[in-house]
Amino acid sequence: MTSLLLHNIVKCFDQTETIHQVNLDIQSGEFIVLVGPSGCGKSTILRMIAGLEEVTSGTIQIGDKDITHLPASKRGIAMVFQSYALYPHMTVKENFSFGLKNMKCSSSFIEQQIQYAADTLQLGEFLDRLPAQLSGGQRQRVAIGRAIVRDPEIFLFDEPLSNLDADLRVQMRHELSKLHKQLKTTMLYVTHDQTEAMTMADRIVIVDQGNIVQVGAPLELYNHPDNLFTASFIGSPKINLLPGKIKSVKNDQLVVNLFEQQDVSINLPAKDLKEGDEVTLGIRPEHLYQNSQGSDLSFNLQLSAVESLGDATYIYAKIFDKLDFRVKLQGQQTFDSIQHLSVYIAPSKLLLFDAEGKAIR
Ligand SMILES: Nc1ncnc2c1ncn2[C@@H]1O[C@H](COP(=O)(O)OP(=O)(O)OP(=O)(O)O)[C@@H](O)[C@H]1O
Ligand SMILES: [Mg+2]
Repeated sequence: MTSLLLHNIVKCFDQTETIHQVNLDIQSGEFIVLVGPSGCGKSTILRMIAGLEEVTSGTIQIGDKDITHLPASKRGIAMVFQSYALYPHMTVKENFSFGLKNMKCSSSFIEQQIQYAADTLQLGEFLDRLPAQLSGGQRQRVAIGRAIVRDPEIFLFDEPLSNLDADLRVQMRHELSKLHKQLKTTMLYVTHDQTEAMTMADRIVIVDQGNIVQVGAPLELYNHPDNLFTASFIGSPKINLLPGKIKSVKNDQLVVNLFEQQDVSINLPAKDLKEGDEVTLGIRPEHLYQNSQGSDLSFNLQLSAVESLGDATYIYAKIFDKLDFRVKLQGQQTFDSIQHLSVYIAPSKLLLFDAEGKAIR
């Protein structure tokens, strides 16, 4: 059993509470990705699990075992850092074996583990090199190998790919996913990069200011964000958020008046909503089209800038003369000397949030 349970975890640095009552239940063998803006507490959560940082209160459990106060070396957890943290004066082989020697493992076991890590990560031909004689991607593989040789019950990764260039990141992303399939070990992975989160995770954990705001499968978070924070964190370009007020509530038909300019009718359960309540409408840039596709809901935009990416065209515009609005169209489109544009959306694609930022659905 290598499930991992965080129960009411709180962390204070000096007098400041940085992590607030975090609860997380990770199943054995899951690949969990923690995402959130800089400073939200991702590394702190990982470091507490690794035992590199004391928890202020709460408990951490692996399987049935309470490890809250166990020293880092006794937890069966290996952590891989963004900075690789390799020993520069040791060869790849020595980097692999160093920890095992400290743990007084037999030399035959150490040899076997080195071979296993080298095979798994295709590092066989580099075993006698120093880290300085390796590329960034190879160094990162050594850092992962150093975790693998310990045969941990749980892997923790803190932004392991953020020093690599775009191509290498994609390649390493695939290698890590493959590694997870092969080892079937529980993995917790921290990143800023939502592509990594979307493509690698069984479940994504969204962290905002020391709180977990939503946990779910990648597409669940994209399609059904619970709150404004998740909606604006997942999805690129960022979701458009327009302020409005409930104009009328009739059975499951809400009419929202946007920015005192345009009425939009949405098919959603009214629940506690009433006339005059403030709401926010969410419109994903990629759900907008230039032709109506059978929808009669459209928005008039003033173009500010157009970016052609080859496979897609990003339009930066203003709506209601004032608010920023983004549109992502498929393929190559030209907008020379066009200043105004209408875009359509299927009403079923609209997202609505109440005054507290909670999704209405
Ligand atoms: N040792 C420390 N002493 C005091 N404050 C700390 C300490 N370590 C972290 N913090 C604070 O705790 C908060 C969370 O930091 P943390 O490093 O966990 O963020 P993060 O989400 O990993 O950010 P990033 O994405 O930039 O790595 C920050 O405000 C940080 O300044
Ligand atoms: Mg960090």
